[in-house]
Amino acid sequence: MTKTSARSVLLVIGGGIAAYKTLELIRLLKGRGIGVRAILTRAGEQFVTPLSVAALTGEKVYSDLFSLTDEAEMGHIELSRAADLVVVAPATADLMARMAQGLANDLAATALLATDKPVLIAPAMNVRMWLHPATQRNLARLLADGVRVIGPDEGDMACGEFGPGRMAEPAAIAVAIDEALAPAEGMKLLTGDAPRPLRGRKVLITAGPTREAIDPVRYISNHSSGKQGYALAAAAVALGAEVVLVSGPVSLPIPPGAQMVPVESAAQMMAAVSRELPADIAIFTAAVADWRVAQRADEKIKKGGKAPPTLTLAENPDILKTVATLKSGRPKLVVGFAAETERVVAHAQEKLTRKGADLIIANDVSPEGGVFGGDRNTVHLVSKAGVEDWPNLSKAEVARRLMDRLAGTLAETA
Ligand code: CTP
Repeated sequence: MTKTSARSVLLVIGGGIAAYKTLELIRLLKGRGIGVRAILTRAGEQFVTPLSVAALTGEKVYSDLFSLTDEAEMGHIELSRAADLVVVAPATADLMARMAQGLANDLAATALLATDKPVLIAPAMNVRMWLHPATQRNLARLLADGVRVIGPDEGDMACGEFGPGRMAEPAAIAVAIDEALAPAEGMKLLTGDAPRPLRGRKVLITAGPTREAIDPVRYISNHSSGKQGYALAAAAVALGAEVVLVSGPVSLPIPPGAQMVPVESAAQMMAAVSRELPADIAIFTAAVADWRVAQRADEKIKKGGKAPPTLTLAENPDILKTVATLKSGRPKLVVGFAAETERVVAHAQEKLTRKGADLIIANDVSPEGGVFGGDRNTVHLVSKAGVEDWPNLSKAEVARRLMDRLAGTLAETA
């Protein structure tokens, strides 16, 4: 791998049956012009040979921490920093545990500890090992340390069991690698030659909670942070779109290049959305209050020794449904979000039909998931074509991937 390789990856191959799929991953990466240098762990050598890895990477394969020749050619510090990204595939339970602990007891662990580059792992292990609290604790630690994770997928496993634990498919890992290497692409944005597939397109996004007034000082609302909607607005701007963000009250900076229309109630949000149509793509991430107080008091309601007041609620307009079922002027792509606490995909499928959307992004907002207010999201794309499960990603990555997808779909339908 010469220094002139535009993008390069240090690939750590752990000891798991999935290591054979890593050979396919190397082939895909090389095909995309990405340079690959590999470290094979001792356990990894039980599953694939250094010779096949060397043949596919076209590079020497590293495995021994104390090999003098290796140190003479390239020290482990240099090895861990020469690449733009470090990828661990398969990331075994053992490798994840050692990473989470910060151990440096072989070349792979040492390189992972010494690197100053982003790290992406593709876990692969038996389902029980994956679900074990120790592995989940290590996963949480690694996520908190900023490690990116792709997969594992759910399915039949080599060990005969079924469930999550299968390494993500090489093609999916290659896409995640492409995205992780995106900062290099981002430089192109500054130099102006980045693809702008949404140039000349208008993207309308709702975000945040709504506030439904009880009286001049009190309101009904919810915990929506607006982060996913704001991240989508930034991603749409990056693709060259004209972006209007109709937002309930949140404490987030307006994404540079987007126009923000502040609203409070669902009725105001509905009116602002109607004013902003037509649009090519409409994305409804707002957590719109389902009900408003039927008779908002003009003056502050006083206790005055009386019995507590009874609030009569009235249903708010369904903004997504209103726009998705427009007879004329319907955006070409209408996307909704479904925040659920149980039967996530089933509820999303029902919403897809009931609301007439083209796509519903379903996510689990049970309090233990930390989605509300958090920076990460695990989503499922639900459309007529079926269900696509995405790995746990940052909200920024969900936004980038989703906008890329929508830009592609729009280009196909135009
Ligand atoms: N939505 C909307 N207007 C509303 C309610 C919801 O535009 N009055 C949009 C949301 O922005 C989201 C989608 O509809 O994209 C689903 O919202 P959700 O609250 O999950 O669905 P509800 O219709 O409220 O269904 P339920 O309360 O039964 O879960």
